Amino acid sequence: MPHVTHLAPHTTGRAPTDRSAPRHHVRPAAGNWCNDPNGPLFHDGRYHLFFQHNPHAAVWGDIHWGHASSADLVHWTDHGIALAPSPRLPDRLGAWSGCTVVDGGVPTAVYTGMDRDDGIGSVMLARAADPSVGRFEALPRPVVPGPPPDLDLLAFRDPYLFTYEGERWALIGAGHRAAGPRPDVFVYRVGAGGLDEPWRYAGSLLDAGHPAAARHAMPAEAWECPALFPLDGDRWMLVVSLWIAGVTYTATYLTGTLRPHGEGLRFAPDGTGGLLDHGRDFYAPTALVEQDRTLVWGWSWESRAEEASVAAGWAGCLTYPRELGLHPDGTVRHAFARELLGLRGRELGPGDRLPPSYELQVDVRAQAPDAEVTVRLGRAVALRVNPTRGTLTLDRSATPATAPHPYPRTATATATGPAATGGRLRVLVDGPIVEAIWDERLALTEKVHPGPEGEWTVEVTQSAAQTAARGWAHA
Ligand code: FRU
Repeated sequence: MPHVTHLAPHTTGRAPTDRSAPRHHVRPAAGNWCNDPNGPLFHDGRYHLFFQHNPHAAVWGDIHWGHASSADLVHWTDHGIALAPSPRLPDRLGAWSGCTVVDGGVPTAVYTGMDRDDGIGSVMLARAADPSVGRFEALPRPVVPGPPPDLDLLAFRDPYLFTYEGERWALIGAGHRAAGPRPDVFVYRVGAGGLDEPWRYAGSLLDAGHPAAARHAMPAEAWECPALFPLDGDRWMLVVSLWIAGVTYTATYLTGTLRPHGEGLRFAPDGTGGLLDHGRDFYAPTALVEQDRTLVWGWSWESRAEEASVAAGWAGCLTYPRELGLHPDGTVRHAFARELLGLRGRELGPGDRLPPSYELQVDVRAQAPDAEVTVRLGRAVALRVNPTRGTLTLDRSATPATAPHPYPRTATATATGPAATGGRLRVLVDGPIVEAIWDERLALTEKVHPGPEGEWTVEVTQSAAQTAARGWAHA
């Protein structure tokens, strides 16, 4: 019987003013550690979201799959552990990242079985033991026992399945030790007779030797958690997470087309790419492809020192779901999932005190070049947009990150997109997690401990601009 609780009892019994932990973001209800989102799935009328989880401590280790589900992408129910490593199987050191598919009507986890300490895994399958996907049961034999022979790799993990022209393919993240090191995404042909037939290695989808990859997806030693989904017609988005010197760094994307190449497929970049999110606390995004949109979740780690997370009893959450697609002009559209409007409660005007969870929306129209508008979240954070320069800046000099992870960082993060005369800034804050999206083009996620407190204000700080600001508390 799965353990079922409402999401984040960690926050129940706490004062409604407590902003030390997210209330609405998916993370293990029992606390402890959470990293990558795994295998988002819509099945039997519910969204299921899995995630890397250490049930024993607020630090990475002994990785299981945690599980939450929701009918509306807003209210989530925690179901405890869905997949546990077994001492008798090749996942004995951890059930690392992967995806899910519905195979013959049965939700199936396709994941990295880890039984070595060098980051090289196998691909394992685990079938849902019941329709509510409360528990996955692993098949004893991997479908891919390990990397192709004769390759000297420093990473091989994170299977991701997709369908191209009616056939099922898989990607696996990798990095070559020699020649660089050089990150790579491998392609496999999934068994035509069934998911559990051995898969066939079909070469590289894209490696860092391609100039567009060298420009948009480096520096890295390995690409973790590849994800690939259609944008429109024959244009696809490839997302990879950059792993360097053993550190998880950031996630980037490239757009392009898929082309048959011998037994396999190659990704032909069209030159567009860059950071998927411009903040420093976003990694390992994965996707759920729906009819009219693709939903994406990332992992947001903590910007505080590890000891502080251990003392708090939890570390890591998933981001809010986002919609990725294209604007009518063919540029990448990056928006909060429309369902999140359902979180809106009491209205908040500029000058009001910030509750622990809320949304702010500021429409900006530049009346002169270099008009700049600053939205202040109390004293902790300032978000600045400069439409004619196409920039969104998060300034946290008043509340610096105390973790050295992923790398020592500057006090500000700036994202640059196309220049425009105006646009809409949406900022969703839930305790310490701040997610901002400028004009459905640039996303920026950071964790701020302690969560911003005080009043919010909107100021025109350079040149002339018109603004219209609204806000809503989230329960
Ligand atoms: C990404 C990652 C994956 C791996 C998982 C282990 O954050 O390193 O490559 O499968 O985490 O938890």
